[in-house]
Amino acid sequence: MNHTAAGPTDPPDRVDSRLINRRRFMERGIFALFGGLAAILGLPIVRYVLSPIFGIKEDLALSTQWAPVAPLSEMEKVEDIPKTFHVPYRIFEGWRYRDVSRPVFAVKEGGELVLFSAYCTHLGCPTFWDLPRGTIVCPCHGGLYNNLGQVVGGPPPRDLPRLVYKVENDVVYLKSPAEG
Ligand code: FES
Repeated sequence: MNHTAAGPTDPPDRVDSRLINRRRFMERGIFALFGGLAAILGLPIVRYVLSPIFGIKEDLALSTQWAPVAPLSEMEKVEDIPKTFHVPYRIFEGWRYRDVSRPVFAVKEGGELVLFSAYCTHLGCPTFWDLPRGTIVCPCHGGLYNNLGQVVGGPPPRDLPRLVYKVENDVVYLKSPAEG
């Protein structure tokens, strides 16, 4: 049978050992409490110190509004043949963010850069530029678009939608990458 409290008949060394155990328990509890507080308060400092490393992740978190597509120098090489870019961004799913990407086409129209969606307007399959045929092709049901994303054949009901972009610090950003 276990006794938890010192009785009047317990020998003095047994009473001492119980007091020491209790003191140790309390000390550990206090250490754990302060350790937890230090971790909570220290987290922003650690985050600040490591922020250069996690900068890219933070950029992606912002990418729900503006997602980086490519440096302007790379876009300037684009001509009248659509070039596909895979744009990374984040979506909020349930209780966490998930990194995803989407394909977009970039092309020059009258010297101006144009971005448009690579998702077919029929049922949303990703399309691709078919160089030998000189058209954008949807592999699902044979939808065809010209180099500017205008429907030229198959079931798609509409042209591929144009997308809004901006240039900032010599980088091209796509607006609201989860849409369109
Ligand atoms: S999804 Fe593209 S043609 Fe049907």
